[in-house]
Amino acid sequence: MTGIAVLETPTGWPAILLPRSAAGAGAADPADLDAAVRAGAFEGLRRAVRDLGATGTIAVVGASGLRGRGGAGYPAADKWRAAGGTAAPGRIVVANGYGADPASQTDQTLLEQNPFAVIEGLAIAAFAVGAEEAIIAVRTEATSAIRLLEAALAAASDAGFVGANVLGAGRHLDVTVRTVQGAYLLGEETILLKALEGKRGQPEQRPPHPATRGLRGLPTVVHNVQTLAAIPWILVHGADAFAKIGAADCPGTILVQIRGAGRSGVAEVPLGTPLRQIAALAGPLGAGRSVKAVLVGGPSGGILPSDALDIPYTFDALRAAGAHVGSGSVIVADDRACIVDLARVLTRYCADEACGKTIPCRIGTRRLSEIGDRLAAGTARAGDLDLLADLAADIVGSALCDHERLATLPLMSGMRYFRAELDEHLERSSCPAGVCHPVAMATSATH
Ligand SMILES: Cc1cc2nc3c(=O)[nH]c(=O)nc-3n(C[C@H](O)[C@H](O)[C@H](O)COP(=O)(O)O)c2cc1C
Ligand code: SF4
Repeated sequence: MTGIAVLETPTGWPAILLPRSAAGAGAADPADLDAAVRAGAFEGLRRAVRDLGATGTIAVVGASGLRGRGGAGYPAADKWRAAGGTAAPGRIVVANGYGADPASQTDQTLLEQNPFAVIEGLAIAAFAVGAEEAIIAVRTEATSAIRLLEAALAAASDAGFVGANVLGAGRHLDVTVRTVQGAYLLGEETILLKALEGKRGQPEQRPPHPATRGLRGLPTVVHNVQTLAAIPWILVHGADAFAKIGAADCPGTILVQIRGAGRSGVAEVPLGTPLRQIAALAGPLGAGRSVKAVLVGGPSGGILPSDALDIPYTFDALRAAGAHVGSGSVIVADDRACIVDLARVLTRYCADEACGKTIPCRIGTRRLSEIGDRLAAGTARAGDLDLLADLAADIVGSALCDHERLATLPLMSGMRYFRAELDEHLERSSCPAGVCHPVAMATSATH
């Protein structure tokens, strides 16, 4: 175990993804199948195979309103219908456990704390879409998660939950754990599939989407591991019970990676929880400090000011606010932070990580990054903020994957919510927070 901290959440918050005991010390061995079965593991698979059938299983997941946790919030059952509706010689389900954001350990925590929920969700999804092959893709560096997962998979296979003749019902499911190593972009589904084929990690034009034409040309349902881990709960407790948890348009729970001055760790939160309440899980700031901004979604996330924190944590609300759920990262920055500096560092990372296949993203993110650098260095030119907005508008929608749009979020949200601070850097070559250099040095006498 890596000892990733799981934060306590308020009493009454549901625990669907992480076992409650994971929040405290002395949690049971997560790869102990007997203990997991005693706690209800694989009951959802039994219901799917023995009671509901494939169509009934898809109907229940559709009625639950489950949306993919990988970032975009696409309805899970729609993907299943698309894959199941194809006439293909085989289908594949891929659990995306890559965890692209190096600063977020949500998916790794799930794999370490509740591997059987991921395996069971994968088996249910495979049963529903008629797949006989499933892959769990994990980042090579997540060694403890891989060890646990492999032990859990071997136990599940010995017990007949996966492998030949699943639950004695005559269906076969071959599940493998595949490790992938590489850049941030590898978490994007078409790139991940390329990597699994042993090819260069660049995305493909869509449509066709992977659900109809994916790995080796076969219909491939790719789901984040959290999406899969919610499915057993839905089949056991019912679609209605799930739909009542969280937000009406976005039910269930999600894992967030919280970082702040007080506490850092992973927490399971109901979707729709006000961002302010989630940020509060980071604990109090130091004496005399106040929240200036919360960075939401990871490197290509949005920077939201303290007065915008009452928005519900949902895919649609965050997108409307200029951020996104992304990697589940929620970072609390206090009043000493400089928004230009934060946006500049994030944009540089996004530009460096762009795979380069599409020119507007490759060149555009680099130009955005340069504007961020000029603002921080006090060398920005008149018109740079207009150029920033024009560039961002030109980049968005012109590329092969969503990275181009997401890469504009740090600077664009900075401009939307902290315009005065950006103007100060541009017009007066001054950094109000005293962070940017050499500007800060030149103006330190004023602080
Ligand atoms: C730049 C980029 C990085 C991504 N990284 C991840 C990732 O690490 N894990 C993940 O599950 N999805 C990631 N996604 C989203 C996937 O492409 C895909 O939508 C997701 O795995 C589908 O799962 P879902 O249906 O459960 O949401 C990323 C997308 C982009 C554009
Ligand atoms: S949008 Fe960016 S990251 Fe995505 S394919 Fe194009 S260059 Fe690569």
